[in-house]
Order: sequence, then structure tokens, then C-alpha cells
Amino acid sequence: MTVSPADQATANDSTRKDSDRVIVFDTTMRDGEQSPGASMSLDEKLELAKILEEMRVDVIEAGFPIASNGDFEAVLKISEIVTESTVCGLARAGVADIERCAEAIRPAKRGRIHTFISTSPVHMKWKLQMEPEAVLDAVSRSVTHARNLCDDIEWSAEDATRTERDFLRRCVEAAIKAGATTINIPDTVGYTYPSEYAEIFRDLIENVPGADKVIFSTHCHNDLGLAVANSLSGVQGGARQVEVAVNGIGERAGNAALEEVVMALKVRGDRLPYFTGVDPQHITRASRYVSAITGFPVQFNKAIVGKNAFAHEAGIHQDGMLKNAETYEIMKPEDVGQGGSNLVMGKHSGRHAFREKLKALGYELGQNALNEAFQRFKDLADKKKHVFDDDLVALVDDALASGADRIQVKHLRVIAGTEGPQQAELTVAVDGVEKSGSATGDGPVDAVFNAIHEAVPHTAILRLFQVHAVTEGTDAQAQVSVRLEEDGHIATGQAADTDTLTASAKAYVNALNNLFARKEKSAPDAIASGF
Ligand code: KIV
Ligand code: ZN
Repeated sequence: MTVSPADQATANDSTRKDSDRVIVFDTTMRDGEQSPGASMSLDEKLELAKILEEMRVDVIEAGFPIASNGDFEAVLKISEIVTESTVCGLARAGVADIERCAEAIRPAKRGRIHTFISTSPVHMKWKLQMEPEAVLDAVSRSVTHARNLCDDIEWSAEDATRTERDFLRRCVEAAIKAGATTINIPDTVGYTYPSEYAEIFRDLIENVPGADKVIFSTHCHNDLGLAVANSLSGVQGGARQVEVAVNGIGERAGNAALEEVVMALKVRGDRLPYFTGVDPQHITRASRYVSAITGFPVQFNKAIVGKNAFAHEAGIHQDGMLKNAETYEIMKPEDVGQGGSNLVMGKHSGRHAFREKLKALGYELGQNALNEAFQRFKDLADKKKHVFDDDLVALVDDALASGADRIQVKHLRVIAGTEGPQQAELTVAVDGVEKSGSATGDGPVDAVFNAIHEAVPHTAILRLFQVHAVTEGTDAQAQVSVRLEEDGHIATGQAADTDTLTASAKAYVNALNNLFARKEKSAPDAIASGF
């Protein structure tokens, strides 16, 4: 029997040294949420935190507590429910930021304050309008203040890779002296390249007093497509924490992708003798969930989690695969939680088999949610001959996304076709009270959205409408994402159904629910007081 490289890496577990363990710090909910349009609701963040914890991510950066009441509440609630991972909040180098952050992480079993300030000449001059000596002073004061409130302090030198080296060493030294336990060296603008980044870590670790007492961290942006390569190189240079985001989401071109860094370390354990505590079996589920809640599709050829990442099209490749999967696969789809046999169940499958299948896909539902999902599965199996894993994932995510919605779609009828105008009649229940709308539109989707507008008057603007087929064939479920914006608040909704127009109506209504919930909770941004 042959052993895949991933298995080989696991087999070498006994030879691992603690000093080679790489801490995985997930910033999907903080830096990831900073991607334009990628905002997540509180419930979505709580669900994502559970997935990340199950995946055994070491640190979850849950938000930027002073940025808004919504961010504060997300960090607070995640601190209340997460018990295994460390929960981290971000704070600028100001008293108000740090205290708000400390308050948000207070319930956490393990909490971390992550405070940062820019250190590069261009940032200090134009963004902060501060002299270097004042920045250095702010580093000492902010870390000292944070350390008085929490034992686990991460300090970041924003734009570190464009910072003068001597000044960077002085700032790192000041942060360590003031009590920082993790030192992050962000490549904020995605400017560095692998050998340079490794050299920065080697230099700091060798030359800064106290460097041996702290963990150094990578934080790489993908502006030149080098975020994952730079992160791995940083580890080779001595970093033992990687800051990553699921699907690589984040500011501009994004952050280093969690799934790529984790699997590169696992598959290439021969060359990169480091390891993480992450269980990669949860990767696919996390990727799908992040894609669904943000409305950001995963590109087909995306490493590890793309639809085609394990697909073999060319006849010569398929022939090799049939003889031995190792001919064209360096890891197994099952390693990252992609089901081996994909055809699952039909209308005769029972509740027990359904629950076991969901478990295998990474879902443990409570009794009510399970009953509701099972009913939806039966309805789907009546309409669709083959129910695949992807159908079940879409169905359960849909049930979880819309279960507690105040507005629910009850009835929809659409007249479409070449002879216009297209027309839609719709009934929704708003807190149990039925309301109806009827409208025409420029196409059936437009008519549906106009009918919703009639039934539930609002001023939200449609920012994204996206449809993709969950599986193949004309009976495939359509998964629809809708993003709405009203008064500066953005919310995304999604739904899946074999009827694209029903999925569109449900996704729009789900987005409206999320938008209204967000508006109820939010308050204006707070402004930090600087040191
Ligand atoms: O990219 C960056 O510099 C950041 C810091 C706040 C860590 O996200
Ligand atoms: Zn960043």
C-alpha cells in the first residue's frame, strides 16, 4: 500500500518538537471582514467561531471592539462561547481602544488583546502624522496599558516590511520590554517577497533583546499573490504563528489563505518540518460557510477548496487516477473534508442515516434544527432524484441561515417568459402576520424583488445578486446570495432551492432580516483617544 505525503506527515508526529509547532491565528472575522462587502452578522460570526474552534484553530481574532457596537458584541459573545481557542480583539494604540477590547474579551477563558501602530516612514508621516520617537513612546505605553489588563498581548508593527530595520528593532524591543507575548510583523501592503521576509524574522530574533521570550508572527497580504509563500518563508525564518483567513479573504487582495498554509505545512512536512494543531477535515466546511455568508464565491481552481481542486478532466489523468490516486493527487480530498463518495441519499433515506450523514459533513444539529433540516431534505428528495453532499450542505446552511428570521417567504408565484412584463405575487409572514405584494419587473428576478418591496417597504439598495448551481444537472439547487445596503449598513443573505426564483426571494428576504437585525444593534463608530 502506498502512503500519501499527508499520511507521511502524520506518521512523523512522534518526531515533532514543541518548538516546531506553528500557532494558527484566524483573522477571517477581523481582517477578512474588512474586505469590501464581506460583512457578517452576529449569528454568522458565532457559527463561524464554532467551526473554527472545532477545526482547532489556536487563536480566533473575532473583531475590532471599538469600531462599532456590532464588533464589540461579536467579540464579547464569541468570548462567552469559545472555550478551547484563544479569543482575540484588535485595538489601536489608544487607551479607549485597549479598554474597550479588554472589556469585550473579559468573559474569554483565554483572551488576547492585539494592539498595533504603524512604524513605516510613509505611515508615520502621512497616516499618523507622528514623529518616530512619539510612535516608539506609544508602543511602550500601549503595550504596558494592555498588559495591565490581560496577560496575553500581541503587538503589531503595521507596515513592518516597509519599516526601517533599525527602527523596527527598537519598536520590537520596546514592545517586548513592555510585556508583549507575541510580536507580529505584518506585510500590510503585500510588498515583501519570501527570502526578504524570512530574513526580517532572522534579524529580529537574533538581534532584539528578549526575542527568545516571545512568539513571532506572520501576517501577509496577497497584493502580489505571495501571501502564502511569504507566510511559509516567515516560518522558516523563525515565526511560530501564522495569521490567516479562510478562503484568503481580507483587505484588498486578501490575507494568506488558512487552508493553503495549513495544507502546505502538512503535505510538505519533509521540507517544512513544522506542524499545526488544525484538523484539516473541517477545512471544506469552513470554506463553504465563509463563502455563503460573505457571498464571495470560491474560484473553481482555488487551491485546496476550489470545485476543481480534486477534479481530473484529461483522459490520461483519469486513467492514472484509476490506477493509483497518487499519480495526480498530492493529498486526498478526504484529508480536507471533501466526501469521497458523493452520491448520498434519496427519498427513502431515514432520519438516522440523515443525521449520520450530516455528522460526517461536520454538522451536529440540535433536535429542532435537525427536524427542520430533515423535512427540507424530504421535500428536496421529492423534487430531485439524487441528493448529493453539496445539496445537503446548501440545505442545512440555508436552514441555519433563515431559521430565526422574522420575515419568512410563504408563497411565491411568478409569470415569466418571452411575452413581458414579468410578474410576481408574493406573501411573506412578518413576525407571524401575513403581508402580500404584487409587482412587475424587468425580468422575473426584478419582479420578485419588487414584490418583496411592496410587501415589506424599505430603502435598501441591491449591491450583489449572485446565483450558482450547487451540483450539476437541470434539477440542481440554485444557491443565491444577495447583498443589500441601507444607510451605510451592509448585509448578505443566502438561500438554496431547486427553483431559482424561490431561492432568489428567500435570499433577498434573508438579507433584509440580517440588515434589519444589524441596524437595530448598531451605533456610530467610536473614536479612539490617542496616547
Ligand atoms: O495588515 C495589517 O497590518 C493588519 C494589522 C492590524 C495587524 O491587519
Ligand atoms: Zn492585515
